[in-house]
Amino acid sequence: MRPLVVGNWKMNGDGASLGEIEAMAAGDPGVALWIAPPATLIHRAAAVAGPVLVGAQDCHAAESGAHTGDLSAAMLREAGARFVILGHSERRRDHGEDDALVRAKAGAALAAGLTPVVCVGETEAEREAGRALEVVRGQIEGSLPEDEVVAAYEPVWAIGTGRTASVPDVEEAHAHIRERLAAKLGEAGRAVPILYGGSVKPGNAAELMGAANVDGALVGGASLKASDFLAICAAAANQS
Ligand code: PGA
Repeated sequence: MRPLVVGNWKMNGDGASLGEIEAMAAGDPGVALWIAPPATLIHRAAAVAGPVLVGAQDCHAAESGAHTGDLSAAMLREAGARFVILGHSERRRDHGEDDALVRAKAGAALAAGLTPVVCVGETEAEREAGRALEVVRGQIEGSLPEDEVVAAYEPVWAIGTGRTASVPDVEEAHAHIRERLAAKLGEAGRAVPILYGGSVKPGNAAELMGAANVDGALVGGASLKASDFLAICAAAANQS
């Protein structure tokens, strides 16, 4: 299976940024390449993305209704999204999203034909207290549906900080997630891609993508420019 590299533009990008997506779509990156621009760009991005899959950064758990400012999974699918990032630590922090809500959103996404990319990861305080694996286990149990999804391990302290987890720490967390997925989903749990996220850059991608049980990357800042993002993809492709 090709590695999966997912870009998360967060609240960045405008019409002028669509050229970056066109550049990402121009050649064969050697990986499955997915990109989540802000929702305002999904429709236009999907029109220029070629083989690159376009996705969303969140969805509501309900099909429709009185939820001002929110977007349903079916609306995002109609706009051109094929996957949705859920449970990102920035949403857990900024919007108080808990595991049960993330799981409900994942169910809504699957029902609408979107693949959920469900994020888990411990804070620095939790890691220092020796609770990293326990926290990750709780999030896997609580926020993933009983279906095949994509899982992303993103230690909160590594996101946007330039700090990455060490390879042994990544391997420990990913092995733990693999084991929990197998316990939860049986054989299907072995096929769930587990991405690493948190300050992945062209310079550290090879080392991180070569780690055991790392099936790809979830990339924030370094996904905004096609040149950086494609360099990460090339590093991931070389490790597969
Ligand atoms: P970063 O973000 O690559 O900028 O650290 C990763 C993420 O939040 O998905």
